[in-house]
Amino acid sequence: MPLHYLFIFTLLVTDISCRGFKVENRQRQLFLSRNVVTDSGQFDGGVLVDENGKIAGVYTRESIIDLLSEDEGSLEVIDGGKWALMAGGVDSHVHVNEPGRTTWEGYVTATRAAAAGGFTTIVDMPLNSIPPTTTIENFKIKTSAAKEEAYVDVAFWGGIVPGNEVELQNLVKAGVVGFKGFLIDSGVAEFPNVDTDDLEKIFTTLNGTNVVLAFHAEYPISKAKDDGQCEGCDPHVYDTYLASRPPEMELEAVSLLAKYIPRYDVHVHVVHVSAADVVPILEQAREQRIMGGSTRWRGGVTAETCHHYLTLSSEQIPPGHSEYKCSPPIRNVTNKLKLWEYIRDRRIDLIASDHSPTVAERKTSDLMTAWGGISSVQFGLSLFWTEAKARGYSLRTLSHYLSAGPANLVGLRSRKGALKPGFDADLVFFDPDASFVVTPDIIVYKNKISPYMYRVLNGKVMQTYLRGKLIYTDGEVLENPQGQLLINEDVLKKL
Ligand SMILES: *[C@@H]1O[C@H](CO)[C@@H](O)[C@H](O)[C@H]1NC(C)=O
Ligand SMILES: *[C@@H]1O[C@H](CO)[C@@H](O)[C@H](O)[C@H]1NC(C)=O
Ligand SMILES: [Zn+2]
Repeated sequence: MPLHYLFIFTLLVTDISCRGFKVENRQRQLFLSRNVVTDSGQFDGGVLVDENGKIAGVYTRESIIDLLSEDEGSLEVIDGGKWALMAGGVDSHVHVNEPGRTTWEGYVTATRAAAAGGFTTIVDMPLNSIPPTTTIENFKIKTSAAKEEAYVDVAFWGGIVPGNEVELQNLVKAGVVGFKGFLIDSGVAEFPNVDTDDLEKIFTTLNGTNVVLAFHAEYPISKAKDDGQCEGCDPHVYDTYLASRPPEMELEAVSLLAKYIPRYDVHVHVVHVSAADVVPILEQAREQRIMGGSTRWRGGVTAETCHHYLTLSSEQIPPGHSEYKCSPPIRNVTNKLKLWEYIRDRRIDLIASDHSPTVAERKTSDLMTAWGGISSVQFGLSLFWTEAKARGYSLRTLSHYLSAGPANLVGLRSRKGALKPGFDADLVFFDPDASFVVTPDIIVYKNKISPYMYRVLNGKVMQTYLRGKLIYTDGEVLENPQGQLLINEDVLKKL
């Protein structure tokens, strides 16, 4: 269905150059939809966007009629009809890998894929690029690689590795959203995991700050075999890999983190929860925090899970297919259903992709040695909606977990993740009734590998807007990157 431009007066955006600054003279816009999705409900109405690409107001259809009669001619009206109008998605967990492993993924391809998937902000993980984002110097290298390549907004996690406590304060000043560390081998040599001595130093350094400390929570317990060791078992069979990373590894890691939570006033976030049983452990820690008077969002104790844990289960994984490999691993259907119970009861805080691509040569059929990581930055909204719709959830649930939750985590709660006045007009038109098949030719990210290949997904991103500007329509990402790096550039320059 084509868009109806009710008023086609001056749609042209004029660039005026004055004293070296580019000032854009933009028209106000009114986005209309029979299905506007906000925190408080879904209704027939619209979103007014000001000249600076910020949301000026959210209206019901009746109040729009008044608005239109007052402002006749001065508004560009973009009518999505039955397409739902929602806040753009925020993906707080994406490995872009540039520079250093740019054959795996890069800013252009990752952010174009995000735009195609209705995600208007991504947050880049500190590892798998070379160098990793663990020092100010490295952060400069990272951000200069990203500059002018961002088709959506990009924020950055810093990394914690043994001995880099001295870098943390400056990285915060320069605008990282928080730090991520590993409690187990990360899979890449340049990003070693931290041990309990390091943790003590890191928590001490960050105590009382607003910085989020995120962890890959698996702990190497003796029962588990290391990757690559597999005596008398078949490394092509998924259960071999699954058995090498049992739920106890996640439970152990989260129990370790839970010991720090009462002693330090630091927001602790657990990324990519697979084993559902970690949720009650974190809840207990949160409860203690809140009873102790913490006013942080969710008591400063949060957890995310990923599309693959909610969509796939180990029983379905065919032998030799490492496109399903990630760590922690995709577990059985009992575990998946438990995660969905927690989603229903709002006991998990957000959902991210953990988009972690590599080249085909590293996705071998030996599941013990193949690269662990699943690419899905482009398909989050549809993956979640396919499962959620079948379970009777509304688009508000989708928006809660894929926009508001991640925006809250990464300090963008007053700017992104909701349709509210003053927020960036990052918008997506989503057709909840359309469906499509994942095929290599629609994949925009660099390496066209996916466990969802040839699956039918429900719900389709029709158009994506960043600060009111169209960035994706009719299956095409528009040229000219419009994304911004969400960092303190002036501070970074001086450090
Ligand atoms: C962390 O900071 C809080 C106050 O913000 C303080 O009560 C607590 O003792 C500190 N923890 C440690 C281990 O120093
Ligand atoms: C699923 O995995 C858990 C933990 O490994 C196990 O206790 C449970 O029996 C499994 N359920 C099924 C249906 O295989
Ligand atoms: Zn990750």
